[in-house]
Amino acid sequence: MILLLLVICPLVAGRLTVPMTDVNDWGGRFQGQFNVHVNETVDGWEAIIRFSLPVTNLDEWMGDIISHSSNNMEFTIVNKPHTSVQKVGDTLQITVQGAYAGSKAPTATMEFINMGHDPFTAPPPHKNTDATKYNYDEVLMKSIMFYEAQRSGKLPSNNRIQWRSDSALNDRGNNGEDLTGGWYDAGDHVKFNFPMAASTTLLTWGLLEFKDGYNASEELDRMYDCIKWPLDYLLKCHVSKYEYYVQVGDGSQDHSYWGRPENMTMPRPAFKITQSSPGSDIAGETAATFAAGYLAFHNKNLTYANILLTHAKDMYDFAINYKAKYSDSVNQAAGYYRSSDYEDELCWGGVWLFLATRNQSYLTEAEKHYEAGPAWGQSWDEKNTGCMILLYKATHKEQYKLDIEATFRSWMPGGSIPYTPAGLAWRSQWGANRYAANMAMMALMAAEQGLNATVYRKWAESQINYILGDNGRSFVVGFGQNPPERPHHRGSSCPLIPAPCSYFEFQQPGPNPHVLYGALVGGPDQNDGYADKRDDYVKNEVACDYNAGFQSAVAGLKSAHLRGRM
Ligand SMILES: *[C@@H]1O[C@H](CO)[C@@H](O)[C@H](O)[C@H]1NC(C)=O
Ligand SMILES: *[C@@H]1O[C@H](CO)[C@@H](O)[C@H](O)[C@H]1NC(C)=O
Ligand SMILES: *[C@@H]1O[C@H](CO)[C@@H](O)[C@H](O)[C@H]1NC(C)=O
Ligand SMILES: *[C@@H]1O[C@H](CO)[C@@H](O)[C@H](O)[C@H]1NC(C)=O
Ligand SMILES: *[C@@H]1O[C@H](CO)[C@@H](O)[C@H](O)[C@H]1NC(C)=O
Ligand SMILES: *[C@@H]1O[C@H](CO)[C@@H](O)[C@H](O)[C@H]1NC(C)=O
Repeated sequence: MILLLLVICPLVAGRLTVPMTDVNDWGGRFQGQFNVHVNETVDGWEAIIRFSLPVTNLDEWMGDIISHSSNNMEFTIVNKPHTSVQKVGDTLQITVQGAYAGSKAPTATMEFINMGHDPFTAPPPHKNTDATKYNYDEVLMKSIMFYEAQRSGKLPSNNRIQWRSDSALNDRGNNGEDLTGGWYDAGDHVKFNFPMAASTTLLTWGLLEFKDGYNASEELDRMYDCIKWPLDYLLKCHVSKYEYYVQVGDGSQDHSYWGRPENMTMPRPAFKITQSSPGSDIAGETAATFAAGYLAFHNKNLTYANILLTHAKDMYDFAINYKAKYSDSVNQAAGYYRSSDYEDELCWGGVWLFLATRNQSYLTEAEKHYEAGPAWGQSWDEKNTGCMILLYKATHKEQYKLDIEATFRSWMPGGSIPYTPAGLAWRSQWGANRYAANMAMMALMAAEQGLNATVYRKWAESQINYILGDNGRSFVVGFGQNPPERPHHRGSSCPLIPAPCSYFEFQQPGPNPHVLYGALVGGPDQNDGYADKRDDYVKNEVACDYNAGFQSAVAGLKSAHLRGRM
């Protein structure tokens, strides 16, 4: 028995029940009306109409009837695209007509639900016991939540992101191989392995070096889950020794769809590298990811770690023996993540394999591919900075130390990288924050090797604190003061299921209905200029690779505080 409490009042917490009024009874057919007084912004709605009698041939014009009960007494309606947004002060009038059997038209109530009203919030943050300017525990928790929001495939039962559910369950290879899982790349839904693997390597390195930071923030278990998700997927993609799927989804079809991943219907082709169309860069990067994963899981699950190591060795073998740029072999990737060269990934994969196996031949190979001189930076495409730091860690050779110092001389104030007036090292306009954050991570890693530790840590802190709010606003969604509310991100811009989602939602001026907790947005222009606009994918998109170095840097700062080094 359901007790319906009938209170006629404005929307409360996104819900409201109203009676059917203005009923016309024509004997066998009727018309009635429901009036919703809107007192909070509605970005998509659902309405459940409950009649006192079975009703047939129900007609309704403001929305679409998506289902009804078998006894024809309960009908569920969702808005049409153009009726999704209702402004405060409006009255939404829903008129229905239908047929009934009996002596008198039915009575009815309508439960109206604002699907843009998302009650989901992040767990309460820890007290900032380090007394740092920003709460690093909270940033780590939320950044991990961002990666959870990016998950593709069948979600685990402990999924925390309530507005996400299973998606892309039919992702398959050319021979039917299961390619479900992994992360959606950014605000879109392609799975691009090159940045996915690069992000996983940086996150895993951060975990290996700054485990105490994750542990103290009580995020250690979540962090293992965070990296295992893409590792499991990348293992699936490596279907045989010289066959590796590097992308699922067609960039242009994907980008012409604005909606949730749960409701994608476009074809999602898969693309692989093989002996005849190889990719040393992506194979080298993925070997690095697997080798780092081996080190991370070695003491947790040796069986799993050994699987990762076997794939790491095979993948590196593939990278070394079949040389080409993957984006020349897989043209689909070229418009989005074109690789500039593969020497850096051959160095990177080799040094990670050396650290995992202590087999000298990997170190020799890594050094053979090392590109000397100060590095451009660190990114999904560019691994030289990370490589020189790990080679220094492995060999303590003077050359690597000099290159690390030269790299940071060019990155620190007075060097060759432009700075915004408020102090962000501004490498490039597209996603400026992520380059600064990646180099903050690298500076913290160099500091761990005893190189200019105090200077590097202070500089890393300045870059991360800029991102967290030093210039008057946070660049992390759902964190700190005046954070971004309109990231260029499809899923979080949609109202809750079952309301429809389309380019209409993209164009709405209001905040995304869901807070995409922890996502780092692109960042400012060279003059600290930034506007929180959904259509600005240069400054306001989010991506797996944006958060990776950033999250590791925050873990590094947390760790440095714990160890009393700052
Ligand atoms: C809508 O009205 C209800 C009842 O008066 C009130 O509790 C609620 O806070 C209002 N919501 C907004 C967004 O003003
Ligand atoms: C995590 O911290 C707890 C409490 O300080 C400690 O007992 C435990 O050994 C730490 N675990 C790891 C893996 O560092
Ligand atoms: C969107 O996906 C959800 C969850 O899979 C499903 O319940 C809903 O019917 C879908 N909506 C549309 C319009 O396909
Ligand atoms: C360890 O990893 C293997 C391989 O992935 C898996 O089958 C097994 O269930 C894992 N064991 C535990 C205790 O998680
Ligand atoms: C070291 O790695 C190389 C290259 O994969 C391999 O040929 C060699 O057998 C390995 N050496 C040892 C001691 O495992
Ligand atoms: C780091 O320290 C060395 C001396 O140990 C110095 O030559 C170099 O310029 C320093 N680099 C930076 C970026 O501070």
